[in-house]
This record gives sequence, structure tokens and C-alpha cells, in this order.
Amino acid sequence: MKFNIRTHTCGELRENNIGTQVVLNGWVAIRRDLGGVIFIELRDRYGITQVVFEPSYNSTAHELGKKLRSEFVISIEGKVRKRPAGTENPSLETGNIDVMVDKLLILNQSETPPFPIENKIDASEDLRLKYRYLDLRRPDVQKDLLLRHKMYQITRKYFDSNSFIEIETPVLMKSTPEGARDFLVPSRLHKGKFYALPQSPQTYKQLLMVSGFDRYFQIVKCFRDEDMRADRQPEFTQIDIEMSFIDMENLFEIIEGLMKEFFKEIWNIELTTPIPRLSFDKAMEKYGSDKPDIRFGLEMVTLNSVFKNSDFRVFKDSISNNGVITGLLAKGCGDYTRNQLDVITDFVKKLGAGGLIWMRVKENDLEAPIAKFLSDDEKKNLIHEVKAETGDLLFLLTGNKLKTLSIMGSLRLEMAKRMGLINSDLKPALLWVTDFPLFEWDEETKRFYAMHHPFTSPRIEDIPLMESDPGKVKARAYDLILNGNEIAGGSIRIHDANLQAKMFNLLGISETEAKEKFGFLMNAFKFGAPPHGGIAFGFDRLAMIFAGRSSIRDVMAFPKTSSGLSLMDDSPANVDESQLTELHIRLKK
Ligand code: AMO
Repeated sequence: MKFNIRTHTCGELRENNIGTQVVLNGWVAIRRDLGGVIFIELRDRYGITQVVFEPSYNSTAHELGKKLRSEFVISIEGKVRKRPAGTENPSLETGNIDVMVDKLLILNQSETPPFPIENKIDASEDLRLKYRYLDLRRPDVQKDLLLRHKMYQITRKYFDSNSFIEIETPVLMKSTPEGARDFLVPSRLHKGKFYALPQSPQTYKQLLMVSGFDRYFQIVKCFRDEDMRADRQPEFTQIDIEMSFIDMENLFEIIEGLMKEFFKEIWNIELTTPIPRLSFDKAMEKYGSDKPDIRFGLEMVTLNSVFKNSDFRVFKDSISNNGVITGLLAKGCGDYTRNQLDVITDFVKKLGAGGLIWMRVKENDLEAPIAKFLSDDEKKNLIHEVKAETGDLLFLLTGNKLKTLSIMGSLRLEMAKRMGLINSDLKPALLWVTDFPLFEWDEETKRFYAMHHPFTSPRIEDIPLMESDPGKVKARAYDLILNGNEIAGGSIRIHDANLQAKMFNLLGISETEAKEKFGFLMNAFKFGAPPHGGIAFGFDRLAMIFAGRSSIRDVMAFPKTSSGLSLMDDSPANVDESQLTELHIRLKK
């Protein structure tokens, strides 16, 4: 069908266009038939313009206009006019004008969409994902994807202007150890062999440093077969970065520069740098999390010193077992009822706490089920240590250090919600968390795992501890946190083949296994590997936060459900027997 190409978009016309003849193309967003006159809100990605079919103006166009329904694709030609006084629509940028239609061309019809294409929506997420191409017509969703587009441009411009080179790395590769399960791709040509989809381009970017590229970045898809959450998808995007001949400070400076650009360009906020830093140990002690939300106070306090001589068995045991006693002061919550306190106790129990100690702060005293086990001195010191005042409520948890701190960290967030501390007025807060432990001990398998990944360098001064006390070794690893979300993580790498071998050894990876899995990297390190380090952003998470959304699905064009399904194209799906045969695969009955 021949049609007139638009002269303007649907977001463009203003009062200075009044009197001009225009052609608009777009979708019928809203249709109103008011006593003979038909008003159509015509939508494209640039906006909405009202077009008017009036029998006295053009009866042929008006007659055809009667056929229009939601989501028909049309082309109209007509004259821009000033809207009659009192009919302006201030919520539209084009709201002072409309277009009187001389000619209508219906370019395509549409079935009634399964949900109305508008910002306010009641449809379930599943239905929206099934018809994602229609969901993507909604202006708010388009806005989020436009923001994402802007973020790609900011990223590319920033890294280009700082001498970084964008290099693509393979998607069919050998497994990388980022801690999740791999997605595997069977090879047709090599019977019984599999490629893995990259969990990240980690090994490749390190090899690029060996090749001398010095400053690399890539906006890249990563694939991880892991349990989904609001901020996790099986395929997601990273801004992946690696640099040579640097230390942590240089890398922080580059990354802070990027964050400055994002803050300025998206939120119009001048970000002050340096971004504050907190060690992993301190983050756990104060916030019970390695990704603390520091936009509000409500800090936890370690109380071991207050109770170091306590006769109260629970505290005594905890201290002698190297555990922790941690406290959280909820200001002004002393009037919480028993019922409320029971609900909160259940909350921590579900997270694995044995119980929750609570105390109401009274005039120079504490009212609590355990008060009778505490000496006057302990009560006094406790009140002093947490700066408690009459009317406050105090929570105490005790037990294994990391577990207890982490449960209190969850209670901290829960209390912040209950106390209304998390609201849209909060200023965004960035934080570097540094000095992570190099290893994580797993009780089940009784072995150490790399907390970040096996290529992360220990702190130089801790290298001797690797054999004597591996649990104490700190890594040269860092995470960047925005409003309590881990938006990026990275490390300075091991660039010495011997140290790398030692690391594999401690991780229980045998020499043969290391050779088989990472032989190429170990080999490369024999040919002059520069000192290097890097970081990767979770791009979707970053976009989610800048868009003010609470799920990364909102900022991805075609996301999967929380169980990893694509409802639109029904994947994963069965394949033909012949395809499987070609791939040398037989399914178990
Ligand atoms: P890491 O595993 O910490 O580091 O990943 C970097 C960042 O990627 C984001 N992220 C995810 N986003 C959405 N869905 C997921 N399933 C998902 N998993 C991770 C997070 C995270 O901070 N190669 C290293 C980086 C390095 O050392 O340079 C790596 O991938 O925001």
C-alpha cells in the first residue's frame, strides 16, 4: 500500500505549526466518538497527537474514521489547528493543538489487544510478557528502554574518551568459574563435546591484557544458570572492564568518573567523589550486609565488649565460641506491642536465628524478658553504647558471627521499612565495599571456595597467611553498591603463574584440573602478563535503579520470567529428534 511518509512525529507539533498541512503515522491509542465528531489520540514513540474527524470538515475522512479501533495503524493528512479554548490538554506536550483530518489511510488493522496499551495497567506480568511486543508500546516501558539506550551511549563515550578499546569476546567458549552453573551448547562437529556460554568474559579480558590492550571495555551479554530474583536473569548484560599497570586507586578513579557521568546525565546530580569506602568486616558489623544501603542510619552495634564478663549463659557461650552479640536500636519504637514483637521474632527465626532478644528502654532502665540476667553495669553500658533513650526499642542477636550479623542486617532493612526510613526523598548513596575475604568456607563440602573468583589476588601482605590461615586472607576485591544494590564487582588479579597455581591448590583444584580448565590462561601468564585488574557492572541493575524500577525485567526488552521462561516465544522448548541426533544427544526417558 502506498502511503504518505510522515512529515512530523506524533510528539512534535506545537502552536508554531498551526495552519500547516502535515502527515502523521502511528497507532490509534484512544478513540472517542462525540456526537458525530471523532477524536483519535495517535501514538508513536515520540508522543501523542490528537487528530479530529469532523463531517463538516471532511465527510469522506470522517466516514472512514468510524472504522478505526484501538491499535489500528494509520496515516493521516490534515491541518494543524489551535484547539478550541477550554479543550487544551496540558498533560500532552502537543496538547495545545490538534490536526483536522483531510485524508485517512488505514495501513493495518489490529485485533483488540489483550490489555489496554497505556501506562496505568492492571494486567498481570505474565500476560504482559506473553505479549511483550505490545507491552513495549506502552510509553513508560519505552521511556525505560530509551534511558537504557542513553546509558549505552554515556558508557561508550566515556570509555572511548579515556582510551579504552571495545573488543568483543566469544559467546561459545570454555566454562568460566563465576560460581553459577553454565549453560551448555552441544557441538555437532565434535561428538560429545560442549561449549559453555560465558558467565562473564573474565578469562578473555585477562588474556587481552596479556596481549597488551591495556584498557578494555565491552557491553556484553553474560549467561548464568542460577536461581532467579528480581535483580537476576539467566542472561544479563555487563559493562565489563579491565586495565593494565594499575592499582585499585586508578581503577576506582575511572569508575567514579563513569558514575559522575551517569549521575549528571540521568539525575542531574553532581556526584562528589571519592565515593566512600567500607571494608567488608565493617560493612558486616554496621549493616549486616556486604551491600549495605547507607541512605539511612540505623546502624548495628557490636556489643561483645559490653558483655565480655557476662554471667548470662547465652552471651557467655557466644563470646567463648568466637561469636558476636550485635544490637540494633529502633528509635521511638518502645511502644511496639507483644504481638508486633512476636511477628518480628518470627521474621528473624525464619532467617535462621535461634531467637530475638528485645528490650524496651525505660527511664534509666531496660524492660525485657532477659533483664534479670543482666547486671546494672551491663545495662548502663549497653544503654550508653547504643545511645538509647527512653521510649526506644532495642534488639539483640547473638551467635555465629557472619550468620548473626547477616540476620541482623535483614532485620535492619525490615525495621527501616516499618519505621518509614526508606522513601523516595532519600538521596542516592554509592559505596565501595573493599577487603573481602579471599575464601569462603563451605561447611557442607568442607572446603574453601573463592569468594569472588579464582583469579582474584590476595592482599600482598596476606600472601603468607594463604597456607597458615586461609580464612584470614583478604582479597584485593571490591564491590560498588548503589542504594543497597550490588551494581559492580571486580578485583586486582593474580598475574603470576606460581601464585595462581597456589590459589588453585587451596581451592582444591588439582594441577591436572587446573591445566584442563585454565591451562590457556596459566600458559599465557608465562609470556609476560602485566599486573592488571578490572570490574564489571550489572548493566541491567544499574538501568533499573536509574529508571526507579524494582525489577531488572522492567529495563530489558525481552526478559524471562522468574522461572527462566520466555512466555512470548515459549522457550525453552522441545526440539526435533533429528536435531538431537545430529548433536549426538539422546534424552533419558
Ligand atoms: P560478578 O559475578 O560480581 O563479577 O558480576 C558483576 C555484576 O554483574 C551483575 N550480575 C547480574 N545481573 C543480573 N543477573 C544476574 N544473574 C547477575 N549476576 C551478576 C551484578 C554484579 O555485580 N568477571 C567478574 C567481574 C570482574 O572481576 O571484573 C564478574 O562477573 O551487578
